[in-house]
Amino acid sequence: MANNITLTIVKPGAYRKGHIGPILNMINEAGFRIIAMKLIKLSTRQAEEFYAIHRSKPFYESLVEFMSSGPIVAAILQKENAVEDYRKLIGATNPENAEEGTIRKKYAQSLEMNAVHGSDSNENAELEADFFFAKSERTDCM
Ligand code: CMP
Repeated sequence: MANNITLTIVKPGAYRKGHIGPILNMINEAGFRIIAMKLIKLSTRQAEEFYAIHRSKPFYESLVEFMSSGPIVAAILQKENAVEDYRKLIGATNPENAEEGTIRKKYAQSLEMNAVHGSDSNENAELEADFFFAKSERTDCM
């Protein structure tokens, strides 16, 4: 498959614990190219919008509160088969089920505070990349 992209967020819990550097290192070592990146703090409204698909879920409010509780790093990663390969690198959503050596196994604190987000499809990767980055902020579009 040709080079494609995925969107990752290193979440506030991982930021607070000082895990940004080690997580970015794992991403690099696994062969992903970072083509856009920013350190920001989401507003409540932005977190609500990003996770709108989960609006009906019982954990939605808590997730929004957590995701807007401190700085995050958002990045677009490029690689052949990026979405699937990144989901393998981060491991299962619930860190209790994540394989040894995955980002979530190493750095997640709980199901909600699971260290990182990764897109679940090519279509959502493009939508999520557009949520965080203007085309002028993507080095593949310069
Ligand atoms: P993420 O990949 O960012 O996508 C949605 C997030 O919702 C997920 O990671 C978890 O942080 C969170 N999440 C999913 N399921 C639950 C749950 N059952 N309880 C609490 N948080 C959840």
